[in-house]
Amino acid sequence: MKIILVGGPGSGKGTQAQFICQKYKIPQISTGDMLRAAVSAGTPLGLKVKSIMESGALVSDDVILELIRERIQQPDCKNGFLLDGFPRTLAQADGLAEMGISLDYVIEIDVSDDEIIKRLSGRRVHPGSGRIYHVTFNPPRQNGIDDETGEPLIQREDDQVDVIKQRLEVYHQQTEPLINYYADKASNDSSMTFASVAGTGSVDSITRKIQQVLDR
Ligand code: AP5
Repeated sequence: MKIILVGGPGSGKGTQAQFICQKYKIPQISTGDMLRAAVSAGTPLGLKVKSIMESGALVSDDVILELIRERIQQPDCKNGFLLDGFPRTLAQADGLAEMGISLDYVIEIDVSDDEIIKRLSGRRVHPGSGRIYHVTFNPPRQNGIDDETGEPLIQREDDQVDVIKQRLEVYHQQTEPLINYYADKASNDSSMTFASVAGTGSVDSITRKIQQVLDR
């Protein structure tokens, strides 16, 4: 199964990806997580993208397309994958199509900008595993500590309010056009489903709505 989750920053793509990938036994391919791993490891790619990510801008399409091209050739992708945070521009979507990937589902998670600011400013992450929490909406059992490992949680550099606003602007200008792009594609291709799911409400209620789409 090949799935894309599209949505603004903080719309819950990573949160919902965890459930889908466990259930369908497919890898979660998050370009954001891949880039953050490169930044933490101090690789040449990490050094190149660090300041771009901290400012809330997008990394160049050619860098991202190369990352994806390599990643989807790995053996764990043979039964499919979930793309989280990719594609993010029309050029990336065209690049993916040129790789000959036939998609099964494109699901938009739709959340308002005000809600996104609340979510991202309270997000905490376990850097080792990528587990995602929120200080109010999805708190860990012990404040600031990962439930599974007991290790400290961190706040992402780009989860400061000014950077969140910049990321929202970039989303509306460069990524939102993908919604019509994939809706049009799905209306001309019966093997692909496009659906938009309202992303407000409890995490479980959104999981159920996504499950209903995947059961179609
Ligand atoms: P990336 O890491 O992809 O960030 P993003 O798309 O901005 O998405 P997030 O990870 O911030 O949010 P999410 O939708 O996964 O939400 P989450 O589940 O965590 O990208 C970071 C940067 O990398 C980009 O700015 C860019 O520079 C670069 N980059 C990455 N990919 C790129 C690409 N393809 N092209 C170019 N550049 C690229 O949830 C958010 C919070 O809300 C959490 O605290 C969670 O607990 C909480 N929450 C989740 N669901 C709910 C709910 N239903 N109710 C209440 N709270 C909830």
